[in-house]
Amino acid sequence: MLLIKNIGLLATPEGATVRCGAAQGEIKEYGNAAVLVDDEGNIAEVFENGALPEGEFENTLDAGGALVTPGLVDAHTHLVFGGWRAHEVPLKIAGASYLDILNAGGGILNTLVNTRKATEEELYERSLGFLDEEFNFGVTTVEVKSGYGLNMETELKQLRVIRRLNDGAKQDVVSTFLGAHAIPDEFKGRADDYIDYLIDEVLPTVCEEKLADFCDVFTESSVFNVEQSRKILLAAQKMGLPSKIHADEIDPLGGSELAGEIGAVSAEHLIATKDSGIAAMAKSKTVACLLPQTSLYLGKPFARARDMITAGVPVAIATDFNPGSCPSLNLQLSMNLGYLRYRLYPAEVLTAVTLNAACAIGMGEKVGSVEPGKQADLVIWNTDELPMLLYRMGSNQAKIIIKKGKIYEAH
Ligand code: NIG
Ligand code: FE
Repeated sequence: MLLIKNIGLLATPEGATVRCGAAQGEIKEYGNAAVLVDDEGNIAEVFENGALPEGEFENTLDAGGALVTPGLVDAHTHLVFGGWRAHEVPLKIAGASYLDILNAGGGILNTLVNTRKATEEELYERSLGFLDEEFNFGVTTVEVKSGYGLNMETELKQLRVIRRLNDGAKQDVVSTFLGAHAIPDEFKGRADDYIDYLIDEVLPTVCEEKLADFCDVFTESSVFNVEQSRKILLAAQKMGLPSKIHADEIDPLGGSELAGEIGAVSAEHLIATKDSGIAAMAKSKTVACLLPQTSLYLGKPFARARDMITAGVPVAIATDFNPGSCPSLNLQLSMNLGYLRYRLYPAEVLTAVTLNAACAIGMGEKVGSVEPGKQADLVIWNTDELPMLLYRMGSNQAKIIIKKGKIYEAH
């Protein structure tokens, strides 16, 4: 048993399902708290107002009166890739758009070349380093997508790396198949054929080898239209993979409306989402997984987070870590932007990076809140109050990170 005591404030959402509307901002705050962790690394009991369990505990950790929250959950990353794309930034400064670069064979297609070239071992070691960096920011659960192979061999290579990361990294790692991320040169001008190839050949192998937990698609102008997106997501659902969708990142093609129609677990980005998309997602309780650092990086507007919450859409906030539109692993920075630019209140932001993010990746039963029966994933922060955490932008405020009851000092 491990006893974490002298917690000044324990702030956590409650439950194992999404929090939407007013409930997104209703969190439990325990003053002068303690958390008892069992030998399996799960939370046994939570105490408040100075109460402590009876008996002596060999393992105790003094939180020094600090703020403690659930471990953060990054529900959207593209963390397994070869190379970087720093050379694109001056092109963007000169006026090229994200889609201009992609249509000229750069962007995702540039990363594809470097990812195909890299060995599984190289990708694994590099990704493990990224996860280590992210852990240090207090992130204890991560979703990772494929999508830089765009053929059988390299998509499987990426997915195998993601599965190995779940064993090798400190975090729990959830895997998403994003074969429909761009149209590779082999299928140039034949997006329909590429979708059929994914459905007929790649997806069955992915499912047979149990390499993915979700299927995602990039629904965007000059990438995949709504019809193609619906086709692959429904085929994947039939094979047992629930849906995610990159929707309305640049153009509002109907991706968020499709998310509602097919009951997607989450829709991501939603920068350009219209009222009809928000209404559809509210109905299906699809999590809006918002990526404010991508808005910053692409110079785009910030998603309509407040309208989504008002309409009853559960909101999560993630990084989108990838070499093109968000080369940052700092989920705390997404939280700062959620506070300042989405204008969400501190409790709403906390729910967005813990319980709602966990639910967006099928992990709501295990992580995302500090409650008996859930994994003991917690962060002890360098502050004693939640608004301070969101206000102090730019520095890492994680002090001690606890994953399944194991204690790690941030460095
Ligand atoms: O979420 N939009 C598509 N996928 C990523 C970007 C990937 C890349 O540019 O390499 C995103 O922004
Ligand atoms: Fe993304």
